[in-house]
Amino acid sequence: MTDDLTKRVQASFTDRTDERLMELLVPLVQHLHDYAREVDLKFDEWEYAIDFLTRTGQQCDDVRQEFVLLSDVLGLSTLIEQLDSASHPEATASTVLGPFHLVASPARRMREDISAAVPGSRALVRGRVIDTQGRPVAGAQVDVWQSDADGNYDVQREPDQIGVGRGLFTAGEDGSFEFVTVRPSKYPVPTDGPVGQLLGATGRHPYRPAHIHFQVTAPGHLSLTTHVFDADSEYLDTDTVFAATPELEESFVPVDDPQLAGQLGIANPFQSVEVELVLAVEGDA
Ligand code: BEZ
Ligand code: FE
Repeated sequence: MTDDLTKRVQASFTDRTDERLMELLVPLVQHLHDYAREVDLKFDEWEYAIDFLTRTGQQCDDVRQEFVLLSDVLGLSTLIEQLDSASHPEATASTVLGPFHLVASPARRMREDISAAVPGSRALVRGRVIDTQGRPVAGAQVDVWQSDADGNYDVQREPDQIGVGRGLFTAGEDGSFEFVTVRPSKYPVPTDGPVGQLLGATGRHPYRPAHIHFQVTAPGHLSLTTHVFDADSEYLDTDTVFAATPELEESFVPVDDPQLAGQLGIANPFQSVEVELVLAVEGDA
């Protein structure tokens, strides 16, 4: 009898329905109904779910997107990134954008310090943008954003801090870019809303391992949004948004080079991390 209901709902979508919408809706109804049957969903549980989703919506505003966070902690955002990346497996894996790509990054010069006077261990990031054939992507635009050593982004600090920990770099002829920053920290996703309640109710921690975000664009190439994770960070195996993978980990290594430290305007010794960002060529599958 309940199977018949499922079929009737599916059949209610008329042939005036857009083809792709039909492809999305018919299985959605099937899976939703199958789910309710499988778990024997009770009325009060359905009511709770409606209330949870309502509160999730109410938590959203111009800067807070609780629905995306819900998708993130349920692994759906990462699953969609993985499905999208499957056609170009040689490129660096795409990962979730996250909620902190909020303000435009200031244009930066090569080797500029993006971290102003923020406390923390100084690190030189040496990066290179190449394509899947190993060719440098000259002039690639590399947008970088990260937390400070306390796990806070600029938008979570005083208004005069906007732009600190962010930078828009133009890769050189050899695809390289370099900048000075502070070594980022692990930090929790927001837990003061329904998603935090879900994490609490399931005994999950809210932490993300320490990382730097990168978004790379270049004509003729697919844009890449990814992270580089500090290979020594806590929570690499249990990133609460499931974006961390061993392929995206890099080690910060100590450097003892007073001359280079002087050129960079930082104390010696310092740390250094190498980053390689591989872009898929547009049209390649
Ligand atoms: C972030 O890395 O900025 C982030 C990603 C997903 C959810 C929360 C934060
Ligand atoms: Fe982040």
